[in-house]
Amino acid sequence: MTSTGGNETVVSTAKTQADGTRPLQEGETLLEVENLGKHFPVTAGLLRRQVAAVKAVDGVSFSVRKGETLGLVGESGCGKSTTGRMIMRLLDPSFGKIVFEGHDITKMSQGRLRPLRRDIQMIFQDPYSSLNPRKTVGAIVGAPFRLQNIEAKQGVKKAVQEILELVGLSPEHYNRYPHEFSGGQRQRIGIARTLALKPKLIVADEPVSALDVSVQAQVVNLLEDLQDELDLTYVVIAHDLSVVRHISDRVAVMYLGKIVEVADRADLYERPMHPYTNALLSAVPIPDPAERGARKRIRLQGDVPSPLDPPPACRFHTRCWKAQDICKQVEPPLVELSPGHQAACHFPENTTVSATDAVAKAAVAQAPAPADDPAEPTE
Ligand SMILES: Nc1ncnc2c1ncn2[C@@H]1O[C@H](COP(=O)(O)OP(=O)(O)OP(=O)(O)O)[C@@H](O)[C@H]1O
Ligand code: SF4
Ligand SMILES: [Mg+2]
Repeated sequence: MTSTGGNETVVSTAKTQADGTRPLQEGETLLEVENLGKHFPVTAGLLRRQVAAVKAVDGVSFSVRKGETLGLVGESGCGKSTTGRMIMRLLDPSFGKIVFEGHDITKMSQGRLRPLRRDIQMIFQDPYSSLNPRKTVGAIVGAPFRLQNIEAKQGVKKAVQEILELVGLSPEHYNRYPHEFSGGQRQRIGIARTLALKPKLIVADEPVSALDVSVQAQVVNLLEDLQDELDLTYVVIAHDLSVVRHISDRVAVMYLGKIVEVADRADLYERPMHPYTNALLSAVPIPDPAERGARKRIRLQGDVPSPLDPPPACRFHTRCWKAQDICKQVEPPLVELSPGHQAACHFPENTTVSATDAVAKAAVAQAPAPADDPAEPTE
C-alpha cells in the first residue's frame, strides 16, 4: 500500500500491527457479518410509542476476504445502504454481529471505534452532495488527517497532493472548489478523501450510478487500479448487476432485507439459481447483438412489497412465477447448493438440489454417526 509519505510501499510483511495482531494475508476473512439486522421503529402519538418497524435489513450473513470485491446488489429499498452503514457503524444494528479483522465491532463504543474509522471508509453515491461546496479540495481530502490528528511525514498538503495524483487529478487542484469539477472528477475527489488514511476496507455505495454512462467505466477502472495498487478490499453496492459485473469477485443479491443468493461472479452470471437473480440478470443489456435473442427478458410483476410488512416465508413469493404453496409457508434457508454458490429457494434454477434438500443433507452429515457395534447392556 502506498503511504502518504512518498512512493514507499507498506506491505503486510510486518509480523504484527500496532494493536499487536498479525496482519491478514490475501484471501483471509477481513469482514464477517452474521445474521445482521436493522429494524427502524415507526412511532405514533404524543408518547411516540412504537407501532411498527421497517425491517430494512432482516438477518443477512456474508463474509469478505482480504483483497476481494464483494458486489451487493438489489432493487431500490432492499436494504443495501443500511447494510453498508451498519458495517461502517454509522448505524447501530438491531441484532446480529459484525466482525472486522477478528474483532467484534458490533457494539464497540465511539471511542474504541476511532481507529476503526481509519480502516473502514465509505464512498457515497452522490458526488455533488457529499462534498462541502464551501471547502477547497485540499481541505476536503485533508480533513481525515485533521480529524484523526494524524501528521503526514512530509506535511498534509504534500500528502493530499499525492493522493490527488493517485486518483487522476492534478496537485494544482488543491485550492479549487468542488463546483469547478465535473461529476466524474468530483467522485475522484470523494475517492481521494477515503484514501487519505489508508483504509483496509472501502464500502462504495452506488459509486457510479449518479454519473454519466461515459464516465462510469473510468471510475470503475480507477477503483480497480487503486485496489491493486493499495491492497484494498471493497464492498460495492449497486442496484444494477451490470455495474458490479466488471468489478466484483463475488456477488450477493439482496431482496427485501435478505440475501437470496451469493456466488462467484462468473458462476452467478452464468448459472443464476434464484429466480430473482435471473430476473435481474435478464434486464442487463447484452452488448453483442448476436447474443441478444438468446436471453428472454423476465418482467417482474408488481412492486417490491413494503418492508413494514414483508410477505411471510419466501419474501419473493408475491412476484415469483415459480411460487408454490411451500414458498408461502416455509422460508427457504440460504444454503450452499454447489461449491461457493449459496441460494435461498425451494425451486432453484440451474441445479438439481433445492435449499431444503441441501439443509437435509447437511443435517445428516452433522448427525453423530451410530456406533458400529453397540455393547450389550450388562446386568
Ligand atoms: N432512517 C430510516 N428510518 C426508517 N426507514 C428507513 C430509514 N433508512 C432507510 N429506511 C428504509 O429502509 C429500507 C431500506 O433502505 P436502504 O436505503 O437501505 O435501501 P437501498 O437498498 O440502499 O435502496 P436504494 O437503492 O434506493 O439506495 C427502505 O424501505 C427505506 O425506506
Ligand atoms: S422459494 Fe418459491 S417463491 Fe421463493 S424464489 Fe424460490 S420458487 Fe420463487
Ligand atoms: Mg441505497
